[in-house]
Amino acid sequence: MKIGILGSGNVGKALAKGLAVSGHRVVVSSREPDHPKHASWKKESGSSVGMVTFDEAARFGETMILALPWNGLKDVLESIDPACLKNKTVIDVSNAVSFDGGPRLLHNETSAGEIVQQLLPDSSIVKTLNIVSDQIMVHPHFSEGSPVMFISGNNLESKEQVRTLLKDLGWSTIIDLGDISRSRLQESIMLACVISEMQLPSPSAAFALLTRG
Ligand SMILES: NC(=O)c1ccc[n+]([C@@H]2O[C@H](COP(=O)([O-])OP(=O)(O)OC[C@H]3O[C@@H](n4cnc5c(N)ncnc54)[C@H](OP(=O)(O)O)[C@@H]3O)[C@@H](O)[C@H]2O)c1
Repeated sequence: MKIGILGSGNVGKALAKGLAVSGHRVVVSSREPDHPKHASWKKESGSSVGMVTFDEAARFGETMILALPWNGLKDVLESIDPACLKNKTVIDVSNAVSFDGGPRLLHNETSAGEIVQQLLPDSSIVKTLNIVSDQIMVHPHFSEGSPVMFISGNNLESKEQVRTLLKDLGWSTIIDLGDISRSRLQESIMLACVISEMQLPSPSAAFALLTRG
């Protein structure tokens, strides 16, 4: 599958690498794709992942991933030709969170996932992967067992597509929470995970679902 990633930070690059290894054709995108700060990444990823503009990524991707900081996301989406995102599955990894004075969600009456769906009414937003750090997003191995990944979204076909991509990234326990309004739960779970990590010796944690034999 051709996957366009909006963003070239830790999340965008980790997912690009993981999906390319699984055989997908992937591009990441940046405000300045030719900036020298991307030189080592380009060298490391070779021809397996392209580095392009946001608009080029939106034209390329059959499925899109939003991996942008919350304060820049709306402007980037508004800068892209809407026809390029129409009828596409758009995976939303973002968290609308502030760390000033302790971690807290920026929106209590809605969620980043719902706001993104409103910004892109003709796309199918699927919220996922926001509850773990970029270092855990690909092949999440823990000696204690397999962590859980949640998905939510309004379109069942898009959620099946995302489930397949998550499996390609090494996720085996994937739970569908419901429509996009359930991204409120996922964003709260992210906050609980961040607060938990602050109290743990290991900085990389994930939640698991335990079931009795
Ligand atoms: N990092 C994690 O562990 C993690 C985990 C779960 C969810 N998330 C969420 O995933 C999203 C991406 O996280 P990240 O850590 O990869 O983000 P990031 O490194 O802060 O930003 C990603 C890229 O976006 C571009 N950017 C920065 N400010 C921008 C702006 N104002 N407008 C447009 N582009 C801008 C930058 O690339 P250029 O300068 O090259 O344009 C940057 O490399 C965030 O919403 C975050 O909350 C992150």
